Amino acid sequence: MSFSSPLRCVITAGPTREPIDPVRYISNPSTGKMGYAIAQAAVDAGWTVDLVSGPTHLREPEECILYPVVTGEEMYHQVDALFDACDILIMTAAIVDFRPKSPLAHKEKKGDAQLNIEMEPVIDVLKTVSQRKKDQFLVGFAAETNDLENYAMRKLKEKNLDLIAANLIGSGSGFALDSNILTILGPDGFREKWPAASKESLGRDLVALVTRKMEEGRT
Ligand code: CTP
Ligand code: CA
Repeated sequence: MSFSSPLRCVITAGPTREPIDPVRYISNPSTGKMGYAIAQAAVDAGWTVDLVSGPTHLREPEECILYPVVTGEEMYHQVDALFDACDILIMTAAIVDFRPKSPLAHKEKKGDAQLNIEMEPVIDVLKTVSQRKKDQFLVGFAAETNDLENYAMRKLKEKNLDLIAANLIGSGSGFALDSNILTILGPDGFREKWPAASKESLGRDLVALVTRKMEEGRT
């Protein structure tokens, strides 16, 4: 395997938004904290970082290149453009899974007839780009309300990942909190349960783990 020096990493973060009409959208409570914390840790580790981010209130680490996006489709095009040249892709973004099929050109009045929105799936960014994976090291995230490890393992396989960081939504972990509880799974039976920690600390641990796993893969 051959990697760039310094390592080139693409990190996605934050929520996406899918428009219903010009003033309304579908989104989720992601704040981007986990992805931005990983971006900072990656910069500190000397990696070159491209941060593809949905709308957040966070400031990106100075040393990384920020690619702001809004919709899942935009996130897909940006990641697709950066993927071939990267060594590592870490997808923390909470991409909205379904979007209105035909967003309305004008603001829908609330007094008008009941709003029925036909929805269609948003492209799966990770699953799509990972089909042309070469040497890239791919890390996904999985947020689940139940059956955490089974669902996460399924995603790891479906999306051709090297690691997946899974967390249960609720009780001290998940969206919009400063800390998280992660279970890290790999395709080779690798499994580590990390205790509750700040997202900054988890970011550093994850960057260290990716570094270790890539070094192991090289030997
Ligand atoms: N992901 C992606 N493109 C999507 C949806 C998710 O690349 N359209 C990525 C996320 O960034 C994350 C991983 O896939 O790294 C798992 O996301 P998650 O929402 O947990 O899983 P889904 O495959 O969307 O399945 P579901 O939401 O039904 O559990
Ligand atoms: Ca999803």
